Amino acid sequence: MKKVALAYSGGLDTSVCIPLLRERYGYDEVIAVTVDVGQPEAEIKEAKERGEKLSDSYKEVDAKEEFVHEYIFPLIKANGCYEGYVLGTAIARPLIAKHVVEVAKEEKADAVAHGCTGKGNDQLRFDAVFRATDLDVVAPVREMSLTREEEKRYAEEHGISFATEPRWSVDENIWSRSIEGSKLEDLSFVPPEEIFQWTVSADKAPENAEIIKIGFEKGIPVSLNETKMDGVSLIQKLNELGGKHGVGRTDIIEDRVLGFKARENYEHPAATILLVAHHDLEQLVLTRNELRFKDFVDSTWSELVYQGLVMDLLYESLNAFIDKTQERVNGMVYVRLEKGIARVVGRESPNALYSRDVLFDVKQEQKSAEGFSMYHGFQSRIAKRDRFASKKV
Ligand code: ARG
Repeated sequence: MKKVALAYSGGLDTSVCIPLLRERYGYDEVIAVTVDVGQPEAEIKEAKERGEKLSDSYKEVDAKEEFVHEYIFPLIKANGCYEGYVLGTAIARPLIAKHVVEVAKEEKADAVAHGCTGKGNDQLRFDAVFRATDLDVVAPVREMSLTREEEKRYAEEHGISFATEPRWSVDENIWSRSIEGSKLEDLSFVPPEEIFQWTVSADKAPENAEIIKIGFEKGIPVSLNETKMDGVSLIQKLNELGGKHGVGRTDIIEDRVLGFKARENYEHPAATILLVAHHDLEQLVLTRNELRFKDFVDSTWSELVYQGLVMDLLYESLNAFIDKTQERVNGMVYVRLEKGIARVVGRESPNALYSRDVLFDVKQEQKSAEGFSMYHGFQSRIAKRDRFASKKV
């Protein structure tokens, strides 16, 4: 009895994998695993219906809370962002892979499988987690170099049908919605309103701005307008509020891991709001030296996550540094939502490194700057002397 656990989304790629794993790879039992990281309810429902019909055994795992606590919160602390992309799909893949591995182990399966093609990033993210186990790793669509047309034909032959042909390729979870493909592949094609579902366009947003207050404890968002909220509800609420004001749309050219450039459209109101607020608070409570160094740590963290390398030991070490800095990231940030923009308009913190007295009590403090300017003068004197000295030679 050969068994395989498949990461199952309910879409075309992963659906054709089920009969392929039986017919072409000789597995006797295919377990389809859908991991809920905040996809639309209709998508989860459809995956369940199709998965139950096609597979030998179907499993659904609700990982929304784990996604927010173990993946999104570290992302916020790290100001996670890759080339302007808030890493929504990237940060979810390792968690999906982890649950597929867990099911495989429970069910004593021989292998784990994914339905990714050989062009994108997701294959690498699944592989990175899958290959850290002793299970066989199978990727039928990639291994057979299947085109979409071939997949469609194969699906039809196997009675796999879809009510509507999706107009765009969409990947959605609680942190972001990503839209690509079709006409968007033409780089000068202006995205039509129909691709967006979470956000209104700025010109349809309310005339009146709204100021919201986000509370942070140790770098993690914990409250909205002074009401404590759990992470999942807070993010859902901010997606709704930000979306209403048209906040959080991006249209970018992104460097995929394999070196291709791709055009991506995203919507992510909560991510935009939380990232801008968190970074503002860090600016107030971390020292200048910490901020400069953390910038580099954050961008390295984001590179790793983009590549799906959360199993890398460096990821753990970076998180340890980040967590240390976040001990002081406590306070409240005021964010104004208005016509597509989320802008910080105020902040307060018990850990602020700002002193109004030092800055504005002019009489008392001005003298202390003498040492500072002498130091700078000294530096430039040295620099100039060296320049003149080298000219003489
Ligand atoms: N380019 C992004 C990434 O690699 C998102 C791709 C999402 N896929 C989609 N079908 N829209 O993380």
